Amino acid sequence: MLIKNRKSWELSGRDATPQALYQDRRTILKGMGLAGLAGIAASLHPLARRAALAVGSGLTYADGGHGTDEEKTPYRDVTGYNNYYEFGTGKLDPARYAGAMTTEPWSVKVEGEVENPGTYAVEDLVDFSKLIERVYRLRCVEAWSMVIPWIGVPLKDIITRLGPTSRAKFVQFETLARPSEMRGLSRRVLDWPYKEGLRIDEAMNPLTLMAVGLYGEVLPNQNGAPMRLVVPWKYGFKSIKSIVAIRFVEKQPTTAWLRSAPREYGFYSNVNPDVDHPRWSQRRERRIGEFLKRKTLMFNGYAEEVAHLYAGMDLKKNF
Ligand code: MTE
Repeated sequence: MLIKNRKSWELSGRDATPQALYQDRRTILKGMGLAGLAGIAASLHPLARRAALAVGSGLTYADGGHGTDEEKTPYRDVTGYNNYYEFGTGKLDPARYAGAMTTEPWSVKVEGEVENPGTYAVEDLVDFSKLIERVYRLRCVEAWSMVIPWIGVPLKDIITRLGPTSRAKFVQFETLARPSEMRGLSRRVLDWPYKEGLRIDEAMNPLTLMAVGLYGEVLPNQNGAPMRLVVPWKYGFKSIKSIVAIRFVEKQPTTAWLRSAPREYGFYSNVNPDVDHPRWSQRRERRIGEFLKRKTLMFNGYAEEVAHLYAGMDLKKNF
């Protein structure tokens, strides 16, 4: 287990009152020795993930650090109240329909300004022997939020191994678009496939996570299996799910939301209580499971770690 100095963004599983299910799972895993089995499997990477899946156990991971006393959003809300438009625009649609998505086998195309382009298996991008847990606030543009214990690796570890060239200034990500398994694709709500992008320094920031699990388990399909981004200081839609392509590019890439409503969704989409969405205020948010609204924090509370990325930029223009 890695014990590191606490950072404000490293919320702790231990500090918060753990969800019963979460706690049970860990206890059960220990009791049955499955955690040990998964641990051995992890060192046998790339068989690790398949072994973990086969025994139906959780993933083996180290604590990413500790920090806040914020309570985690219950597992049933994290996995039952979702945005994943490829399965429908209703909040309950992803949990209902995402089971139809095949995630094994899965391959990810790596293209563009990069030393090691190619087609990769998830196991070749994500080092399953180095998974960490990070409890992050996720603030949706629709003015609700959750606190979720994610499991994954810092995106910068993946990018470093892929080796972007000096011309790579941005990274674009793309989601699977398979109409036979994703019923929402029959409606052109967005310009499919779903795309998102980050500036390379945002992608390399230690906060940016490539998640493969949550609450100690392999990522459920509705949350973006088998791998999805988590960019905690940006509105939730930047955290693209079920990634099948990573493209290193010189110019700012397009995104699904920019194409659909450029005046409502900017490229940066940093959480900012001072910049309203054209149709509603972003000053407050409802934490799922709570009744009273709370104040939205600049950069979703991660200003100390990321404000420097935007020094000198007008964040009202670059929203
Ligand atoms: N990724 C894809 N491919 N399609 C989507 O519709 N929705 C985004 C983001 N990633 C979305 C997506 C939005 S709006 C949010 S708030 C988060 O996923 C929700 O993540 P969660 O359901 O795991 O909480």
